[in-house]
Amino acid sequence: MNGLKQHNKVRRITSTVVLIIRYDPGSLGDLWPLGVVTLRLRGPFQHDLALVSSILRDVSSPETSLVVTDILLTGKISVAPFAEINQRRVRSIMFQNATMTDEAIIHFLKVMDRAPVEFVGSEDVMFQGIGSWEPAGQTSHDSLDTVYFRNIEIMNVFKFTAFLSLRFLLLNLRQISIINCKVYVMPCPTSQLLPHLEYLDLSSNLLTDLTLTESLCDGNGTLSNLRVLNVSDNALKSLSLLSKLVTRLNKLVHLDISQNAYTSMPSTCSWPQTLIHLNLSWAKLRRVTPCLPLTLEVLDLGRNDLTAFHSVALPALRELHLSGNKLMHLPHGWLFPSLEVLLIQSNTLNMFGPVDLRLYGRLRALQAGQNRFVCSCEFVSFMVWRWGGAVEGSVELTDRLDNYLCDSPLPLQGQRVDRVRLSPFQCHRVLLVSALCGCILISGILLVILLWKLHAVWYMSMMWAWLRAKRNSGNRKRRDAAGNADPLCYDAFVSYSERDAEWVEEFLVPELENSQPPLSLCLHKRDFLPGHWIMDNIINAMDRSRRTLFVLSEHFVHSEWCRYELDFSHFRLFDGNAEAAVLVLLEPISKDDVPKRFCKLRKLMSSRTYLEWPEEDERRAEFWSNLRLAVRGGDEL
Ligand SMILES: *[C@@H]1O[C@H](CO)[C@@H](O)[C@H](O)[C@H]1NC(C)=O
Ligand SMILES: *[C@@H]1O[C@H](CO)[C@@H](O)[C@H](O)[C@H]1NC(C)=O
Ligand SMILES: *[C@@H]1O[C@H](CO)[C@@H](O)[C@H](O)[C@H]1NC(C)=O
Repeated sequence: MNGLKQHNKVRRITSTVVLIIRYDPGSLGDLWPLGVVTLRLRGPFQHDLALVSSILRDVSSPETSLVVTDILLTGKISVAPFAEINQRRVRSIMFQNATMTDEAIIHFLKVMDRAPVEFVGSEDVMFQGIGSWEPAGQTSHDSLDTVYFRNIEIMNVFKFTAFLSLRFLLLNLRQISIINCKVYVMPCPTSQLLPHLEYLDLSSNLLTDLTLTESLCDGNGTLSNLRVLNVSDNALKSLSLLSKLVTRLNKLVHLDISQNAYTSMPSTCSWPQTLIHLNLSWAKLRRVTPCLPLTLEVLDLGRNDLTAFHSVALPALRELHLSGNKLMHLPHGWLFPSLEVLLIQSNTLNMFGPVDLRLYGRLRALQAGQNRFVCSCEFVSFMVWRWGGAVEGSVELTDRLDNYLCDSPLPLQGQRVDRVRLSPFQCHRVLLVSALCGCILISGILLVILLWKLHAVWYMSMMWAWLRAKRNSGNRKRRDAAGNADPLCYDAFVSYSERDAEWVEEFLVPELENSQPPLSLCLHKRDFLPGHWIMDNIINAMDRSRRTLFVLSEHFVHSEWCRYELDFSHFRLFDGNAEAAVLVLLEPISKDDVPKRFCKLRKLMSSRTYLEWPEEDERRAEFWSNLRLAVRGGDEL
């Protein structure tokens, strides 16, 4: 007891465990009053009841809750000291870790006759009797308001008859808790003895649908003052039966039916209009239905197997617990216009966003950690923006941000959502890809336009024709070597525009073919093989002619075929046959009159001398002789 006399120090003590070695009467009285006194008095209860009385007298007061622990109460004598607490008007007494017999209880009730005790509790107590406490039936315990039994073991459980004859004890009770006491039924007649009962906790017992039906008297409205019913952690299975049993409890506010074996919810149920708090957690429900009472303000459906929460509107709901289910989306906010708190941790939620939250008009607190978040750019940026610090919004995350981890994509798995950094490429992939495609398309179009402008197709077919021609001439040379002579058969191939045909036929052909010795000319009109591709014909003709004579005029410049012939001859120039082209200017065109795209012609005109067709008759003889010379000149080469 040393130290307990230092008044200043102990004045603030509200609860203490006292280990008695030697006790001076009055010592504990100095501490008066204490809030809770726990007395561990096993020895004194067995050997020194006077000491027990003395201590009880000193610590007891109406304001003190007495906890007596580790005792063995077997007979009349052992409970005598409790007369002291009756006298000191103690209102709350609790036995812990005790063993009691029927005889001890009967005498305790007698000792406590007319006591003002309001609360009697027993925890971890072993009853060694059969509950036949009728000998105390004449005592009065009108003050008794609350009994609390937890972890009670009854030795002769099948003979135990308690409650059936305890009207004198039960009549004024308002709260009963019988938790984890292996209770399998509270008979209906006992329930009928409890007209004032407001709070009944029968959790962690052995109730079944059948025995609960008995305890609630078939749902006929017995226990009409009941406000809280806790039958959590029993073996109940039928929700529709339960709803029928409680529907006439017209004051029921709070119903705890968690940790039972409910697997399904009927489509409709009937509930008392007063019910606002329903705990249906830790069951095996897979679906919710409109069975749920519309009056609910707090609903706990945590730890079930729900995969969706749609189509059930609860207009009054303020608090919804859905943690530990298999939901992939937040429930639709418009179903819960009054919802303030939503707990949806440990589901399979992929993501949620501002739109989802906005649908909850009143939501203030959200807990959604430990889900399978898909860390998309959208979600990450929402989380960072919304809870990264800066923004003050109406919804608070009330669990810690480090519960929000990415589940996918794989490289981000396990990272905190608010710490993930995604590159713009990951975030705007579609945009970037479309931009890229756009660029490629536009460049393609530009390229096509460019090629068209540059007559690329023309040049390509030219190139192709030239390659073919080269191959053909190679073949021919091989044939020549083999003795199959296919000699050059024309002196000149004449390339001219159709419009200049008159001049060619009237002047050029007679003049050259009738000269001495005659020159042989190849004209497309006359000498091309019918039925061959015109290009082949042109190439062939040029190949088999020593020279190509170009009759240049405005018309020539505008003729496609002529241009082709010109181009081809240009290739032959590069082929080493530098003298192959002879240019005749039918009318004076300067190099600059030739459109730019005829670069070949312009080049040819600037690199070679050309013969001009004179207007005056007297200069024509000279022209013809020059032309003959130019065409024939190859002979000397
Ligand atoms: C309960 O009381 C017994 C003696 O009665 C004691 O040996 C035991 O340690 C106590 N148990 C607890 C949990 O206090
Ligand atoms: C009902 O009993 C369970 C188990 O004893 C307990 O966890 C729960 O808090 C109780 N509910 C109420 C409303 O007291
Ligand atoms: C519902 O019951 C469970 C288990 O009995 C308990 O853990 C939980 O806190 C209760 N929920 C509410 C909202 O009281």
